[in-house]
Amino acid sequence: MVRLRKSRLASRADRHELYQESVQDTEAEIDFVQETWRDLRDRPAELLREDFCGTANTACEWVRRDPGHYAIGVDLDEDVLQWGELNNLSQLDEDQLSRIQLLHENVLETDPGLADIVLAMNFSYYLFLAREELLDYFRCVHAGLMDDGIFFLDAYGGYDAPKEITEERECDGFTYIWEQASFNPIDAAMTCHIHFEFPDGSRMDKAFSYHWRLWTLPEIRELLTEAGFSEVAVYWEGTDETTHEGNGIYEPSETGDADPGWVCYLVAQR
Ligand SMILES: C[S@@+](CC[C@H](N)C(=O)[O-])C[C@H]1O[C@@H](n2cnc3c(N)ncnc32)[C@H](O)[C@@H]1O
Repeated sequence: MVRLRKSRLASRADRHELYQESVQDTEAEIDFVQETWRDLRDRPAELLREDFCGTANTACEWVRRDPGHYAIGVDLDEDVLQWGELNNLSQLDEDQLSRIQLLHENVLETDPGLADIVLAMNFSYYLFLAREELLDYFRCVHAGLMDDGIFFLDAYGGYDAPKEITEERECDGFTYIWEQASFNPIDAAMTCHIHFEFPDGSRMDKAFSYHWRLWTLPEIRELLTEAGFSEVAVYWEGTDETTHEGNGIYEPSETGDADPGWVCYLVAQR
């Protein structure tokens, strides 16, 4: 008699689904983008370009929010775009679907028409290792925005950021594991991995790997200004007085806390 082996949870899991559940919070991200746009501009934003869009989860959230919203997602990886089509765009209704387009292109070369908003989230631009390359990218974004357009990007840092450490976080039905595998202080290049672990002990190792540069906020701000952006503000997270943890509210600030780990937004006005 053939004994059927019970398939383990890791082998049945989908890495993009796990990523979306553990890494992304597209509703909070688009809330921040919409509120900040409303604070800074007197007209509604229509076209949002999501650079490094991966599964285009955020672009989908944008078109779901308002019938006047259009989105373009840009990514180099055809497989991840296809996954996004099959799993995220397929959830949109016909009207929403008619307002979103995915481009299999390099963000350094894309020129899909002027956007009101460009997003570069989850630190994807850290993949540019050289100053000239990041400056080129920021110039390309600047050229791709309407005159009153706004570029939103996030950044992370803190005194734990360059450490070779592993952190775990419990999610619904799995553990998210972030590994800072190596850091080179000479060029600030680092290799990081995302692993997932399941209650039956099975693991999905190196579900995602990134070789990127740990850019600092002053470097990023200076490069955005050099690329032509007129106002570049850092939006720092406030602190909950009871828990002393981040409260999810980001405000423009010129001073931040010397925390072990922080995430913030940069808002660059064209
Ligand atoms: C860290 S993931 C970010 C996914 C998503 N933006 C998010 O917020 O979670 C980085 C994505 O950038 C894409 N990518 C890397 N270099 C690129 C480039 N030069 N042009 C376009 N996409 C690029 C990768 O294929 C990958 O899907």
